[in-house]
Amino acid sequence: ELTGTSVEGAGDSHDHRLGTGEAEDTLTNRQGHPVTDNQNIRTVGNRGPGTLENYDFLEKISHFDRERIPERVVHARGAGAHGYFETYGKVGDEPVSKYTRAKVFQDAGKQTPVFVRFSTVAGAKESPETARDPRGFAVKFYTEDGNWDLVGNNLKIFFIRDPIKFPDMIHAFKVDPVTNIQYPERMFDFVSQSPETLHMITFLFSPWGIPANYRQMQGSGVNTYKWVNEDGEAVLVKYHWEPLSQGIRNLTQKEAQEIQGENTSHATQDLYDAIGRGDFPEWELCMQIMSDEEHPELDFDPLDDTKLWPTDKFPFLPVGKMVLNKNPENFFAEVEQAAFGTGVLVDGLDFSDDKMLQGRTFSYSDTQRYRVGANYLQLPINSPKKRVATNQRDGQHAHYVDTAPGRNPHVNYEPSVLDGLKESKQIGKIHEPHYNAKLVRQPIDRSNNYGQVGETYRNFEEWEREELISNLVAALSVSHEKIQQQMIEHFTKADPDYGKRLANGLAKEKENMKDQKKGPKTTYDAEKAMYSAQRK
Ligand code: HEM
Repeated sequence: ELTGTSVEGAGDSHDHRLGTGEAEDTLTNRQGHPVTDNQNIRTVGNRGPGTLENYDFLEKISHFDRERIPERVVHARGAGAHGYFETYGKVGDEPVSKYTRAKVFQDAGKQTPVFVRFSTVAGAKESPETARDPRGFAVKFYTEDGNWDLVGNNLKIFFIRDPIKFPDMIHAFKVDPVTNIQYPERMFDFVSQSPETLHMITFLFSPWGIPANYRQMQGSGVNTYKWVNEDGEAVLVKYHWEPLSQGIRNLTQKEAQEIQGENTSHATQDLYDAIGRGDFPEWELCMQIMSDEEHPELDFDPLDDTKLWPTDKFPFLPVGKMVLNKNPENFFAEVEQAAFGTGVLVDGLDFSDDKMLQGRTFSYSDTQRYRVGANYLQLPINSPKKRVATNQRDGQHAHYVDTAPGRNPHVNYEPSVLDGLKESKQIGKIHEPHYNAKLVRQPIDRSNNYGQVGETYRNFEEWEREELISNLVAALSVSHEKIQQQMIEHFTKADPDYGKRLANGLAKEKENMKDQKKGPKTTYDAEKAMYSAQRK
């Protein structure tokens, strides 16, 4: 069947009639031919040589040769699950319709199916899940108005605030292009020159940098979005996922190392096992809301994703809860091919002017057309669970034509008077922000790179501060001294105690290293030593 919009699971359109001599469990090739020998290729005599027309073998081996698709350029290691989101119909004590007309949030008790993918960021597809790394928390809501993706992380802020820095940042955080090894020195080289990263680094090197697993962690949309109501009025919003009964749990470096020694997939396993035994993880979705303006009274810009919105001024307002209650049936089909993007919004939800959000919105669908293919939205996991009717046609792996029943199949363009597809009516009043400014390339004012770093440091419990310092010392003691000095200066500006404890820790570590007569510890020094040895 070539026409249709059904997306209920892969292989739905298959006819399950048996061929001649076949039983229910007969192995076939992809052409439907029964496979009579899956142990021996066809050869001239039983010692070979082989012949080239071994169709079953060629099909099997050449499909195998193509089993891998490119891994995600970031967030390659992940695990996923299905479930539902249930709206409370209100946000805090107010009807949600005051702020957004998005259908997914209206009518208390309404459930919307979701698929969630959790991930680490910098490691490759099978890297250990105990890494000190942000965790991805991407949710696809299959709403009645089409898909909405909320592509978030576990931490509420991010490293950088301008998308042009993202590829450099990721290069510094991922493996060295020469050795294929990840070095803290590369990360801190970038970080020390980009003070907007300090807040995220402070969280990342504390126990909050290694959540115990995917169930017991928070989530956040991080970037600032908008909600739009029936009158076209917008507010700025942030989304946060708070774990319900399973709670929040983080690991110390030592605990993480112990787990990693035993199991490099502990988080995937934890999620899979919990859902398998009916212990379904649940999160409450909470909103922070701000009026849609620049807010000069704040010492930060509401569009700056390196900042927390203080909860005393902008409290968390619950709007619904999510339950994950079904494991994937096939990792590749569902988790690996899942494609989330920040551009995927429904009526009543909108973008803000957050520059990072805008940069991200181009990047996701762009990479997915390359990583999964031009028709990635026709795959069951990505396709909306509602009617899809476009004039987009063809491309690799187009496996149905997404037009509407009863429409003229010859008309793959619009406008037309020959029974083609028509534009929809505008549902609510459009939100139309007004701009009057020079086109520039400039950082935001109110960058305030140190204020919240100090606050976050002071808000940690003492054991968390100790872990933070110890983890920073471990990473910086194998980084160049120029980088160490710069980091001490930065953290001193955030809080003098923070800088002092780091400086003391590093001095002590230097003594230890001297006592142990270790060679050059930084990659930069080691490389210099190696090149000069090679030249001799
Ligand atoms: C994945 C780009 C910032 C969360 C990705 C992918 C790209 C990307 C290209 C791979 C997508 C795929 O292959 O399907 C960017 C760019 C950013 C940025 C250019 C900044 C300008 C962020 C931020 C967050 C985030 C701030 C957190 C809110 C995620 C998550 C995934 C992801 C959770 C994995 C999605 C999945 O599970 O498939 N990002 N990203 N990214 N990103 Fe970002």
